[in-house]
Amino acid sequence: MKKRLLSVLLATGMVATTLVGCTAGGSGNKKVGVAMPTKDLQRWNQDGANMEKQLKEAGYDVDLQYASNDINTQVTQIENMITSGCDVLVIASIDGDSLGTVLDQAKQKNIPVIAYDRLIMNSDAVTYYATFDNYMVGTKQGQYIEEQLGLKDGKGPYNMEIFTGDPGDNNARFFYGGAMDVLNPYIDNGQIVVPSGQIDFDTVATANWASDAAQARMEAIISSNYADGTQLDAVLCSNDSTAFGVTNALVANYTGAYPIITGQDCDIANVKNMIAGKQSMSIFKDTRTLATQTVKMVDAILKGTNAPVNDTSTYDNGKKVVPSYLCEPVFADVNNYKELLIDSGYYTADQLQ
Ligand code: BGC
Repeated sequence: MKKRLLSVLLATGMVATTLVGCTAGGSGNKKVGVAMPTKDLQRWNQDGANMEKQLKEAGYDVDLQYASNDINTQVTQIENMITSGCDVLVIASIDGDSLGTVLDQAKQKNIPVIAYDRLIMNSDAVTYYATFDNYMVGTKQGQYIEEQLGLKDGKGPYNMEIFTGDPGDNNARFFYGGAMDVLNPYIDNGQIVVPSGQIDFDTVATANWASDAAQARMEAIISSNYADGTQLDAVLCSNDSTAFGVTNALVANYTGAYPIITGQDCDIANVKNMIAGKQSMSIFKDTRTLATQTVKMVDAILKGTNAPVNDTSTYDNGKKVVPSYLCEPVFADVNNYKELLIDSGYYTADQLQ
């Protein structure tokens, strides 16, 4: 191919996929870029490890990157994946709204993008979305509180506080929405009272899902609303990192009967808290299953076939409804964690000691 023609084709992205496919990794394998948000939270380490393992088993080279929850770092990592010849990008975004520009570059080079766990917003470069049913996560958390407090039987009033996740993470709104659709009727009829008055999404959001931010907010809520002996009956926490902060605040500053606390991810520290009676439940999202579904998507894309999806209506990212595969989350508590987490090989018994 003449040099000039080649550079024109490369600039327009017309041959990019084929060429990089031949050269990626120097092994002749196709290369998959996997961008993860942070190593700070246990689950993303597992997601990354599972993705890397399963992609390698399927014969791909893998460029796995973590971005320390820093949006610019993630953008740079994705740019590098594009220029270094990745054939497909799998991205768990830090901020769903911040990747439009870099993904335009991917689109120009015909590099397909799979949004992993978190939807990437306002970009038409997103080919597929692989995640858990995020609304169902919230529903299960809300139903757990509903059941434990006997709300369907008319019991109450009970005091509850609410902690959800990062406003830049589209999932946070689904978790919050799913739970609040169950709990709002009880707030409306007075069976649930929120003494802090902090109920709307923006007020109960936790930047970066940070445990210390959740802890600080819970400490402030305790000193303004529960220091006089008022009983706290439940804390809706959208995930384990927020639950962890809330638990720390309660253990140090709250003397009443311990409340119901929800969570999500079954992180080891939280499962230990569950066993110790300091967290009531968590949602188990088996990251091995999510990796398997995502690898199926990668395979289908690279073979030029359609990937398996089971939802083509829920996840509108502002530019398109992204065809999605939603894995099913399950709830875990002290009664079933052994079967779910140890018997399935997710953790060893020793890890939970
Ligand atoms: C994930 C949760 C996780 C949270 C914080 C969400 O997007 O779906 O599993 O706990 O981010 O990392």
